[in-house]
Amino acid sequence: MDTEKWVEKARKDFPALQQKRYGKPPIYFDNACTTLVPQSVIDAMNEYYQGFPGCAGARSRHWFAQEVNDRIEGNEEKGIEGSRRLIQEFINAKSEKEIVFTQNTSHAINIIALGFKFKPGDVVLLTDKEHNSNLLPWLRLQKKGLIKVEHIDTNDNETFNLDALKQKLTNNKVALVSMAYTSNLTGYTIPAEEIIKLAHAHGARVLLDAAQTMSHRKIDVYKLDVDFLAFSIHKMCGPRGVGVLYGKQAYLGQALHEEDEADDVIAPTLLGGGTVGDTTYQSYSLLEPPERFEIGIQNYPGQIAAGTALNYLSQIGMEKISGQMNQLNDFLTKELLKRYGDTRWFHILGPKDARQRGGILTFDIKRPNAVGIAEELSDRGNIMIRDGVFCVHSYLNYKFGEGWLRPKLPSEHRMTYRVSLYFYNTIEECRVFLDILQAIFEERSYI
Ligand code: ALA
Repeated sequence: MDTEKWVEKARKDFPALQQKRYGKPPIYFDNACTTLVPQSVIDAMNEYYQGFPGCAGARSRHWFAQEVNDRIEGNEEKGIEGSRRLIQEFINAKSEKEIVFTQNTSHAINIIALGFKFKPGDVVLLTDKEHNSNLLPWLRLQKKGLIKVEHIDTNDNETFNLDALKQKLTNNKVALVSMAYTSNLTGYTIPAEEIIKLAHAHGARVLLDAAQTMSHRKIDVYKLDVDFLAFSIHKMCGPRGVGVLYGKQAYLGQALHEEDEADDVIAPTLLGGGTVGDTTYQSYSLLEPPERFEIGIQNYPGQIAAGTALNYLSQIGMEKISGQMNQLNDFLTKELLKRYGDTRWFHILGPKDARQRGGILTFDIKRPNAVGIAEELSDRGNIMIRDGVFCVHSYLNYKFGEGWLRPKLPSEHRMTYRVSLYFYNTIEECRVFLDILQAIFEERSYI
């Protein structure tokens, strides 16, 4: 099937794309924030609420609970492959025990930050463009004097600086390299394989924030040899409020244990129902992973529908998905650069080459009254993009200077806009966006 045909077919799966506002269909270009949800995923959640809205785990013996367990943990006799197994297979983890359900990527990163047993002098190494969710947990530990946080500055050509990484690894006691696999600001994907090899050679472990990677790239955790991987199912056509922490089994813990076990095992920070093997008035033992990290009643409909979302993406194929994103981003990038250049007042963040930016295209505009374009695009064309700082305050403050969002002089106004694409977007939608943006720029006398 040629590209246009399969995309048109896939678009029909998404109820949100079938509605109009002021006579116009939505042009959804905010996929890095969250992706749209196909009917099959909505149906999977509804099935839970309508058919078997019980709790899972070893709590209850009735058939509601059995059905929930089957759909999450699988049931060979009934031929049901549970969501956890589907996720394991999707990322090629060795065992289902390495797949922990979380609320989202931020939650998964916090599990590592709060459970990692750091030693005095330990350094955690980041990129220079981390989302707040992979910055704040480390800054807090630094503030408490438990670690030192360092980052790697990007090369002048906006790629990852492997030499700087080597130097930092050589000159510091790096315990953990924790990096955004794909930047939510620029869309750039770091060379994870080389980074992991180098980190391991220096005795450091690696956590990848793959929130923006999983939507368009097949990650093989076994081949990559990454120690921890965090991602969100809602950026993969799945339900909100479900994320995944992958961790090598050796680092998540293996047997029934008291809390204090080997130094390199992540200690669960939240304890309570669902995490324990046994308790007395004075003591407790923990369940094996993943249960010891999954506290209390979980988001069962979301966890069930997570498997449906992964099946949906697999049926389309990750290569087809990334191919379509690259094609759209290439088209938009070339058109924008042709029209507005890349130095004077219009600037694309990250590498110029769209193929290095997946589905993300972020540009900043430095013109009087540069704000409000996202609202105008929404009002005039039902086009949804994002503006602002995208939770990457640290880098943008460094790049543009603190207070850049509140300049005193109108001539100093600047705003950053992000278009983030997914496979259900089309060239036609990009053309509508370009035309309305052009009209806005003309009305504001930018061109
Ligand atoms: N981290 C998400 C984004 O970049 C929410 O939009």
